[in-house]
Amino acid sequence: MNTAQLGKDLTSQLKLSGSTPASSRPSTPQLQESKKLIPRKELLEKVQQTQNEDISLCVVGHVDAGKSTILGRLLVDLGEMTSKDHEKNVRNSDKSGKSSFAYAWAMDDLVEERERGVTLDYAVTSLRTSNGKVLNIVDTPGHAHLVHNMISGAQQADAALLIIDARKGEFEAGFSPRGQTREHALLIRSLGVRDLGVVVNKIDSVGYSKERFDEIVAALTPFLLKSGFNKERISFVPCAAMTGENVTKRSHKVLESWYNGQTVAQVLDQFEAPRRPFEAGLRLPVHNIFKGQTAIASGVGVSGRLCAGVIQVGEKVRCMPGDEFAIVKMIEVDNDSVPFASAGTNVTVYLANIDPINLSIGSVLCSPTDLVPLASKFIAQILLFDINIPILPGTTFEAFIHSINTSASVSKLIETVDRNTGAVLKSKPRVLTGNSAARVEMSIGSQSLTSQSGSNTPSNNSIPVEKFTDNKDMGRILLRHEGQTVAAGIIVDYMR
Ligand code: GTP
Ligand code: MG
Repeated sequence: MNTAQLGKDLTSQLKLSGSTPASSRPSTPQLQESKKLIPRKELLEKVQQTQNEDISLCVVGHVDAGKSTILGRLLVDLGEMTSKDHEKNVRNSDKSGKSSFAYAWAMDDLVEERERGVTLDYAVTSLRTSNGKVLNIVDTPGHAHLVHNMISGAQQADAALLIIDARKGEFEAGFSPRGQTREHALLIRSLGVRDLGVVVNKIDSVGYSKERFDEIVAALTPFLLKSGFNKERISFVPCAAMTGENVTKRSHKVLESWYNGQTVAQVLDQFEAPRRPFEAGLRLPVHNIFKGQTAIASGVGVSGRLCAGVIQVGEKVRCMPGDEFAIVKMIEVDNDSVPFASAGTNVTVYLANIDPINLSIGSVLCSPTDLVPLASKFIAQILLFDINIPILPGTTFEAFIHSINTSASVSKLIETVDRNTGAVLKSKPRVLTGNSAARVEMSIGSQSLTSQSGSNTPSNNSIPVEKFTDNKDMGRILLRHEGQTVAAGIIVDYMR
């Protein structure tokens, strides 16, 4: 089974018992790169030839909609998971009185997830579509209290499946103002996802009803268009993950009588990889840090998604914020060791000569000659969701920026702007209300990045950011307040 656990086991493996004394390490600026480095021009040519066509897909939706079950079903039916492994899940889930979760167990492999029948943290897997494309898929939790983990998983996505529970009352619960169908759809669009497959699942529970499917499509369409999705890039598909109906094939007479569109697998086939900024400077935001446990993969391991550039074994990288340099000892993609990796790829990188005390979730690895900017304040253009709380100067949020999760407060309300055209409506407004758009100045809070040793980085609240126009993945921001996502936006400028 090729399911690579991300956040789960990596963080639990973490036992970085203090850092190596600086005196016993080589002084960092003299850190020697490998003599066998591939020259940059040649490296870019190689990347161009082997262009990373992999697509990152996230699976989102209200709790219990069947996200993990659909993924389990796809893995089994497309032959990515062996029938032996699946039968083991069938036997064990049956023994624990959770037989309906046999397919979901392909993704939910934490003891607590299996006991509770709920996905708690995001998990990644990959599969090859029938037209040969590789999809790196993130299964996210649907529970309202776990939106954090959902955001962490969805931040890496190029495309998404939004899973809907077709049952009476269940679709309505997910689509209610506080339901996660709405919140997740808004979040993924704000995170840059354009291609969306809306899977109307559990269609078996409503007698494969065309009326129910049409009702759900009619209710969701205006909302998705208002959220910024383009009609041409949304596909609606009915399915029953439990019975496998319309996941990879169709056989039910009632469904066949009114539906001759795509299966879920065919929706996956049509997603395209966007062009990656591999010629730009290296940007690898750190999502996870752990201690390499084997002789080959030793040292400090970090994982994340390359937002820009190329990274190769033997090269020297700088970790920002901080003064640390490290040598890339090994790069893993899908559990395979590779000589280099380029923008758009999820990687695990093992680093030598780095003091982990200065390495944090939210740090960015970059080239020593092309450093990522650090900012303690930035100007963001934000779109407020349908919220009741007024936003005033001083309002503090939980901000999500690439792999960073930090506190940030509004230091200035600069102007309100038209949601569609961006034209200024009012300068220096006193307050911002729901559904408005505005330019605001934000200041990073005092607990910006937390290093693995538990202390703050010596960065004086500076975090690595980029303007959205320079790097889309690094320049997006999501704001949460009292457990609710209240706004999303882009960074238009920053100050140190
Ligand atoms: P969270 O990750 O906790 O938000 O849940 P999820 O969306 O991953 O749902 P999961 O796959 O865990 O499934 C929840 C329940 O719905 C399980 O009992 C599944 O058996 C059931 N289920 C999933 N798909 C179907 C379906 O097509 N039909 C029916 N009747 N039940 C389904
Ligand atoms: Mg799940």
